[in-house]
This record gives sequence, structure tokens and C-alpha cells, in this order.
Amino acid sequence: MSKINDLMARGTELLGSDYAILCGAMSWVSERHLVSAISNAGGFGVIACGAMTPDLLDAEIAATKALATRNFGVNLITMHPQLFELIDVCAKHGVAHVVLAGGLPPKGSLEAIKASGAKVICFAPTLALAKKLIRSGVDALVIEGMEAGGHIGPVSTSVLAQEILPALADKVPIFVAGGIGRGEAIAAYLEMGASGVQLGTRFVCAIESIAHPNFKKAFLRASAREAIASVQIDPRLPVIPVRALRNAGTEAFTAKQREVANKLDTGEVDMMAAQLEIEHYWAGALRRAVIDGDVENGSLMAGQSVGMVSQEESAAEIIATLAQQAESALRARD
Ligand SMILES: Cc1cc2nc3c(=O)[nH]c(=O)nc-3n(C[C@H](O)[C@H](O)[C@H](O)COP(=O)(O)O)c2cc1C
Repeated sequence: MSKINDLMARGTELLGSDYAILCGAMSWVSERHLVSAISNAGGFGVIACGAMTPDLLDAEIAATKALATRNFGVNLITMHPQLFELIDVCAKHGVAHVVLAGGLPPKGSLEAIKASGAKVICFAPTLALAKKLIRSGVDALVIEGMEAGGHIGPVSTSVLAQEILPALADKVPIFVAGGIGRGEAIAAYLEMGASGVQLGTRFVCAIESIAHPNFKKAFLRASAREAIASVQIDPRLPVIPVRALRNAGTEAFTAKQREVANKLDTGEVDMMAAQLEIEHYWAGALRRAVIDGDVENGSLMAGQSVGMVSQEESAAEIIATLAQQAESALRARD
């Protein structure tokens, strides 16, 4: 295989992996087993810190290091109240790559990560913010379209790729995420200038993923059109949409928004507290589905590529299939 390796060269150099295929951090799913399996198979695994305390993250990194023979990253959510302590934990372990998700990096956070010697990867939701992040010194960007599973922005992957890759691909490595289920799509984004890709949904049913069998079964059964974005019901309460498989939990989220909007009305909570309550709701609902297997009431966060997840396979098999498909597509252009 050489064509994808050539096109991924800047990505693999940055990540220290064989393929610039990141398994995007997925709360509750991206823990020691999946992360080490992805990295050991030549991809790049990323621990999802989510709402973990610094002590829990410390233990998770140590456990992942014990299983991983290759580099892996840690994904931190920018609005975590202990962000700087979490950065210190990554530094203590010599984590080489920190991914900052969930909004623009707060003042001092990029500097703190870079001071530890780690590379910083950030999500860029628009071309203007991508430029700003590059000026601030990020080492790489992820652009993620609304086809993705979990929290999403309003723009599709294909449009973000067209807006951002031609303008900035020569500045820093850019990884494209959202809706990628096969290698042919990877080949196309590499040809547009991407240095690699990030997938989440496609890796949920890896054999090494600890997601509950019920959660995996729901993925294996679902088609693209069942992975729907949550709807904001109250204009006063802006909620970041979440893409998930439709179930009773989808309706429960509507009720939750009403409850929180009422608390806003009565002044019981302010906007910041209201939004945090919504985020805590998602974290709890995802745990219920991924860990406890309650696929009716929990949150089945999944991207539209879920229709292309058809069997449980090892992380190594998934990465090999994606790489093979991408390579064949590129060779067919000769
Ligand atoms: C179940 C699930 C949980 C996720 N949790 C997180 C998270 O905690 N932090 C994050 O930055 N992204 C999260 N994501 C997004 C993934 O990291 C990745 O960017 C996304 O899945 C890529 O799009 P795809 O699902 O179409 O492959 C999650 C995605 C899924 C499916």
C-alpha cells in the first residue's frame, strides 16, 4: 500500500501512527481497550475524558499505556471545570497528543498543553475560526460535519471540506470527520488535501469496544435515516444538537428541555446552569445505553454512517478494510 500512505504522510508524521485514521473520542466507549486496540492496529486511538475527574483520567491513561504499544491521544472537553488539572495529568504521563473538543480553547490552555511538549489538535467549526486557531498555534485541525454521531454543528462534512481544505490544507494537517464509513470516502478527502480522517460510529462495534451488546446490536440493525439530530424546542434555550438513533430517549430529551426551560423561566437556574444540566443529561443518558445496555431510554449516539456498520470485527480488521478500500479507489484513478 503506498498511495494512501503518501497522501497521509503529514498526518502519520504528526500522529506517529501507520495510518492517519483517528478513532474519535467517544464518551464511555473510548477507554483503555478500544483506544489501545486502535493504536496497536496502526490507527490512532483517543481516550474520551468527558466528565472524568483528574484522578479518573490519571488511572485511565496509566491503564491505556499498559496496553498500548503505540501513541494514543486524550480528548478533553474545553468546558470541563478542571481543564487545567486535566492538562497537568496528560503532561505527567507524557501524553503526546491532546485533542480539545467542545468549543474554542480557553485562554492559556493551548500554551499549557504545548509547554508539556504535546501536540494540540482542535475542532474548527468554520473557516474563520480555523484560521484563528492556526494563528493561535494549533498543530492540526479536525473538521467535523453534521453527519457525525454525538454533538454536531450545522454544516455537512462535504461543505466544510470544500470550504476549509483548499484554503488551509497547506498550513497544518487537517483531519476530516463525520459520515465516513468506507475507504472510498477517505480517498476522496485525502485527494482534496486532508492529511487524514477521524471516524467514530464505524468503530463502536469493534470487538475490543466495551459497548454493551445491546448497544452494538442497535448499531448493527440501524440504517442511516434512523440516526437523527435532536431538536431544540425552546428558542430561549439553545442546545447543541446531538445525533443519535431514535428511541424513547429521544422523546425524553424533549421533556428534559421543557423542564430546564421552565426552570429558566422561574429563575431557578441561569443560562449557564441550564446548559450544563443539558450536557449532564446527555452524559448520563449515553452511559445508560453504552454501559448498562438500556437502549430504550438511554442515548444511542450514532452518526449517519451507522448503516455501513454490519458486523462485529476487530479494530485491526476495520482499519485494514478502510485502508484497502481507500488504496483500491486511488489506484483505480491511474
Ligand atoms: C457514541 C459517540 C460518543 C461520542 N462522544 C464524543 C466525545 O465525548 N467527545 C468528542 O469530542 N466527540 C465525541 N463523539 C464524536 C466522535 O469523536 C467522532 O468525531 C464522530 O463520531 C465522527 O463521525 P462519525 O460518527 O460519522 O464517524 C462521539 C461520537 C459517538 C458516536
